Amino acid sequence: MADRPKLTTTAGAPWPNNQDSISAGERGPLLMQDYQLIEKLAHQNRERIPERTVHAKGWGAHGVLKITGDISKYTKAKCLQPGAETPMLARFSTVAGELGAADHERDVRGFALKFYTEDGNWDLVGNNTPVFFVRDPIKFPDFIHTQKRHPRTHMRSPTAMWDFWSLSPESLHQVTILMSDRGLPISPMHMNGYGSHTYSFWNDAGERYWIKFHFKTQQGHKHYTNAEAEEIVGKTREGYQEALYNTIEGGDFPRWTMQVQIMPEADAEKTEYNPFDLTKVWPHADYPPIEVGYFELNKNPENYFAEIENAAFSPSNVVPGISWSPDKMLQARIFSYADAHRHRLGTHYESIPVNRPKCPVHHYHRDGEMNVYGGIISGNENAYYEPNSFSGAAEDRSAQEPPLRISGDATRYNHRTYDDYKQVRELFVNVLEDDEKVRLYGNIAGTWGDVPEVICERQLAEFKKVHPDYEAGVRAAWEKIKAEGGYKPNAAPVTDATPQITRGDAAD
Ligand code: NDP
Ligand code: HEM
Repeated sequence: MADRPKLTTTAGAPWPNNQDSISAGERGPLLMQDYQLIEKLAHQNRERIPERTVHAKGWGAHGVLKITGDISKYTKAKCLQPGAETPMLARFSTVAGELGAADHERDVRGFALKFYTEDGNWDLVGNNTPVFFVRDPIKFPDFIHTQKRHPRTHMRSPTAMWDFWSLSPESLHQVTILMSDRGLPISPMHMNGYGSHTYSFWNDAGERYWIKFHFKTQQGHKHYTNAEAEEIVGKTREGYQEALYNTIEGGDFPRWTMQVQIMPEADAEKTEYNPFDLTKVWPHADYPPIEVGYFELNKNPENYFAEIENAAFSPSNVVPGISWSPDKMLQARIFSYADAHRHRLGTHYESIPVNRPKCPVHHYHRDGEMNVYGGIISGNENAYYEPNSFSGAAEDRSAQEPPLRISGDATRYNHRTYDDYKQVRELFVNVLEDDEKVRLYGNIAGTWGDVPEVICERQLAEFKKVHPDYEAGVRAAWEKIKAEGGYKPNAAPVTDATPQITRGDAAD
């Protein structure tokens, strides 16, 4: 006992008895003055913070980004210069499930990275897919409602998912990837990460380039079928946590190769697709990926809550040399994440150790929730506003990025005029192997167990516009399920609705 630390209260006072409450007599009621009992119960009541509204279930680790290539002519970002090594944090996640959801569920995976650079934190908050379900953020909350629980049944609703997707053809690309093998990786280590959006680089000469970020798994792609995943979930709901934690604990550090696609600024006017449309990739043949370096995850968190649950990743966190693009989804995310963090973690969430930059921080924000780090204010007692005459922190004009060229009349532009089929067709025809296509058909039809027929038919019509074989394959898988008695459409009254015409309809 002699070498064990002494138990104390949260105020540091020695604590004599952590087993017995104070009662009035051996069989009597408890006393208000049993401060430590009240403290323990009160703390327990406050142990949970709001879970992330999406991407609640996650797994994370610390690591390092190492730059081996040379992209210095495109960006002045210090963390991307040849030879740079930057400490980092990664958090992987599923999108729809709550904090206690099973890991091996078919879903898009989040791929969030925080780089603690000498110029402040750079967060790249991506997914394991290069595209997304919608291209206008005004549709994001509706889309997420279809992924979460039905307000009355409190169950997940494939009807809602397929209703929304079948009415939103821009989702076809992401739905196809989600329902293909890549929709169910065996672990976070066996999947790629993508920045997904178009970002930009800028250099000392004031030139801007459009950028896509890619992180290619060095562990290889590995996936489970739905049947394999069901068996695993029957045994453990924490399969990803076990895989990532145990691999790192065993000293076998997973790595991802970092690549960028680079588009000269003026090309954005020329590509047949909108390069700021999140439902599109940039074909590799047009913009070949350039190798930049790799990152390695080599340290598990000491405390999951402090370092992973408390982590706040935000696309608003960029550093000089890296910036955003006109991508409408990205513009909305620049607002949304920091707002979520103020709600979920508190106003000064960036003073929580895992979010705190590893470089000096001087700003003029003042008091508020979570301001636990007085030095963050300005380090000078009289310089608590700006401008001031007391040597307070001053602006750094070298961090000013080049002007973003934009033009046009402000209105609500109809994004339905974009093609939603060509790139999905290329994926279907040129990339997916025949056996993967068969699994794709089965995965889709397998979720239609109770979806009203009119919604399934509407979705089949969309698959047909991608390729007749796509529609025929899903229909055949659906017919097989029907024949086996596995299709019992629910009785939800369905009113007529049609997806708006897109340019791809006319092209076919
Ligand atoms: P490429 O043939 O040059 O690239 C195809 C890419 O598809 C591969 O490099 C790989 O990307 C990815 N891929 C390979 N197998 C699968 C799979 N089973 N499921 C999903 N993706 C897979 O052609 P393009 O660049 O012209 O792209 C063709 C289509 O490939 C696109 O329409 C898109 O659907 C898909 N794709 C394209 C990506 C891109 O950034 N251009 C990225 C991912 C998919 P990776 O190396 O990233 O694993
Ligand atoms: C988490 C909003 C699109 C990837 C979140 C959170 C919000 C949010 C509010 C919770 C943040 C938190 O509590 O810490 C949005 C909005 C979007 C959008 C409004 C579109 C307009 C996307 C896209 C991607 C993405 C396109 C990927 C390319 C992620 C990831 C997380 C996340 C990885 C989890 C981050 C973590 O691990 O902490 N999103 N999102 N989101 N989102 Fe999005």
